Amino acid sequence: MLVPWQQLRILILALTATIASTSLLLRPAADRAHLLVGTAVRPSLFSEAAYSATLSREFNMVEPEDEMKWWVVRRNEGTFDFHEGDEVVRFAQAHRMKVRGHCLVWDHHNPEWLVQGHFTPAQLSGLLQQHITTVMKHYAGQVFAWDVVNEGLDERGQVKDSPWYNQPGIGLRDKGTAYIEQAFRWAREADPQALLFYNEAEGEGLNGKSDAVYAMVKDFKRRGIPIDGVGLQLHISQLDFDTGAIAANIARLTALGLQVHITELDVSLPLDPRGLVRDDDLLRQAEVYRGVVRSCLQNPDCTATQTWGFTDKYSWIGYHSHGARGAALPFDAAYKPKPAYDAMLEEISRQWNRTQ
Ligand code: XIL
Repeated sequence: MLVPWQQLRILILALTATIASTSLLLRPAADRAHLLVGTAVRPSLFSEAAYSATLSREFNMVEPEDEMKWWVVRRNEGTFDFHEGDEVVRFAQAHRMKVRGHCLVWDHHNPEWLVQGHFTPAQLSGLLQQHITTVMKHYAGQVFAWDVVNEGLDERGQVKDSPWYNQPGIGLRDKGTAYIEQAFRWAREADPQALLFYNEAEGEGLNGKSDAVYAMVKDFKRRGIPIDGVGLQLHISQLDFDTGAIAANIARLTALGLQVHITELDVSLPLDPRGLVRDDDLLRQAEVYRGVVRSCLQNPDCTATQTWGFTDKYSWIGYHSHGARGAALPFDAAYKPKPAYDAMLEEISRQWNRTQ
């Protein structure tokens, strides 16, 4: 027969074990799983109390959605404007979050003065090196990982047309991935401590594009080109997306000695004319989120899972697809967690001890 103090002790031990193995929130669950769980953010929304409170409560990493891109930092040729990116860094520091930087080289969203400027390859080479160096030095010690090159390949796995590659390019036109390689070399020189990522869309499972990304980074690793990881964007619009293929792709990339980050996860749903989604679609969406998070957690070198925004109130999806699709994120427009949130939390809580 147990005396009362022994009964009390057993009760306390049981309670402690329960509290340690389940969490009601994403951020503490991710901290325990040694996983970075992040989201793209818009600093103009930090003043909205629900936005900031949800963000700092649920995530341990942020990435500016647009504020470190060329078109914001380089509105004018002669100047660098860091004030919006700096706001993200300040928010992150105040809430002990990591910052991912995005992005230094992209064919999209470059300022008019650059695209229409009729620069020679030698001038463009100088501009790009100066940009990478200045931005990375500004954020050294504050941004721990950078998407150095974003979306460099097309759906056939060929190097995409870009001001940096062939329009007119930085002098490495028709030399395949050489311009991408050059950007990584400049990035390593600029901030040797930062992790350098190649970030890509629609090459996240197993297909021609992911084969081309794999071949490129394998070649980079073999020749000692400085690269630390691959970002898998994962803007998903099919509810039958094969998340098993993501795990296979992560396995082959990490086998090269690279990290993987899930960088831009969202799963858009069809909206009816009133802008509403079907309940069963929300459940199917949750299973896609679950599959992606599980693919990452299965592999200790998949170190971050990030969504592209977190509330359906603010998402690039509705905006770009004119309202026909939306509701792609883990919180609804009133900041209420959706089944997708519950699925992420369950997966992360379940694997909290993966590195112990
Ligand atoms: C998008 C932003 O979400 C929008 O606000 C902006 O208008 C365009 O860019 N892949 C990327 C991201 O790498 O930078 C894109 O972000 C979404 C697709």
